[in-house]
Amino acid sequence: MLDLAQIRTMDKTQDENRQGEAYLHGDTGMQTHARKFYIESYGCQMNFSDSEIVASILQESGFSSTPSYSEADLVLINTCSIREKAEQTVRNRLHIFRQQKKAKPGMLIGILGCMAERLKEKLIEEEKLVDLVIGPDAYRTLPGLIEEAQSGQKAVNTLLSREETYADISPVRLGGNGVTAFVSIMRGCNNMCSFCVVPFTRGRERSRDANSILKECRDLFENGYREVTLLGQNVDSYNWADENNNELLSFSGLLEKCAQTDPSLRIRFSTSHPKDITDDVLRVMRKYDNICKNIHLPVQSGSTRILQLMNRTYTREWYIAKINRIRELIPECGISSDIISGFCTETDEDHAETLSLMEYAGYDMSYMFFYSERPGTLAARRFRDDVKEDVKKRRLEEIVHLQNKLSKISNRQDIGKQFSVLIEGDSKKSQAYWMGRNSQNKVVVFPKEGQSLKPGEYAIVRIENCTGATLIGTLSIQDLKGN
Ligand code: 5AD
Ligand code: SF4
Repeated sequence: MLDLAQIRTMDKTQDENRQGEAYLHGDTGMQTHARKFYIESYGCQMNFSDSEIVASILQESGFSSTPSYSEADLVLINTCSIREKAEQTVRNRLHIFRQQKKAKPGMLIGILGCMAERLKEKLIEEEKLVDLVIGPDAYRTLPGLIEEAQSGQKAVNTLLSREETYADISPVRLGGNGVTAFVSIMRGCNNMCSFCVVPFTRGRERSRDANSILKECRDLFENGYREVTLLGQNVDSYNWADENNNELLSFSGLLEKCAQTDPSLRIRFSTSHPKDITDDVLRVMRKYDNICKNIHLPVQSGSTRILQLMNRTYTREWYIAKINRIRELIPECGISSDIISGFCTETDEDHAETLSLMEYAGYDMSYMFFYSERPGTLAARRFRDDVKEDVKKRRLEEIVHLQNKLSKISNRQDIGKQFSVLIEGDSKKSQAYWMGRNSQNKVVVFPKEGQSLKPGEYAIVRIENCTGATLIGTLSIQDLKGN
């Protein structure tokens, strides 16, 4: 696995949260090839994971990477369509790259990912902003498309596939810390939540060959990684059978096999849909110490009426029952959520139900957004986006305010407890502190003070203090066993 020296967070706006983060991917350590590519990623972890597949495909065809777009022969942006703002950020970047192209006419600019299908004609023909457009299932055709673009042809492939999972491609780890990595286990989504553009941009759900997932986990472990996050839009509907239908594997089966890679390799997963997460998954989580006790269980709204309009296929009561079940089977489990304010027809009463559900669930963390209508979605076709922007924003502020309170409460309850922490690197604020995470995915910092610990090692840390986002502790002992 090749690691990357430079990682930089570009644009992190409050409402964008996780989806607004962009990373510049740079030097993978191989500088021997003549042609250079630069790749910038926006959106969810799935997109970052895809950029690592693209980097692998490009390296195979003779490119090396560069952390500076002005040095690149090929500039790629892996794009997100989830909210209007994410698309606007990408457009602004494209204009900057277009300026650079004026100084370096041979340079090619391409967009990858979710905006590709939606905006291909506009970006390539009307606005002439890009030379290449490649959808999320067409990355294998990138080398051929680059040649087409070099000869001045329109290079577009946005075909979605029912089979492509890139199972055999070994991702080049971009911008990582050498300790934690993402492993994609499925692609696409069949859920059709009415607000969401993903089923249209990423296509039907497919599960990746379990053998290739397990091999990737083993390879990562052998290369020093100590945590993998299994990624999919809806991991609980993972379902894979080999060609002869001999080995049928559900998500709980896959999770168990991944956990058996090594007791000191932590396993996380994201994202779970409340309608699909099963007791089997919870039992496997309970059985293995190295499966992290944290579930990202997006609720979206606390009002059953709104949930129905969102086509989430569960009610407020069903969701509460899930939370209860998690707490019953895994009392120490961290729970986080995604929440949307101001969905079509949402009233103050609906909003109050969202707040009260958040209180009930006691989320450790949430990603919070105001509703942004996306063209082509079920909601855009069926409902009017009738909640005024200032109302959406006020409700979002209330949600954020409440979440901050809940996070503080949750963190204060950890003071005096001891956790096994996987060290990821220096704390952002001070090199005198280590930064790592506990099983519940909370960030923990503690002073180095002459200890001979390294990133990738585990430490038992006693929590002495906290902020809303961080637990602050001191080392009790090094955790040699791993977990
Ligand atoms: N508007 C606002 N937020 C959205 N999300 C998805 N689509 C939209 C939209 N149209 C949020 C959901 C989802 C997360 C990834 O992004 O909360 O879980
Ligand atoms: Fe954005 Fe969703 Fe596409 Fe991820 S899958 S890049 S969040 S639109």
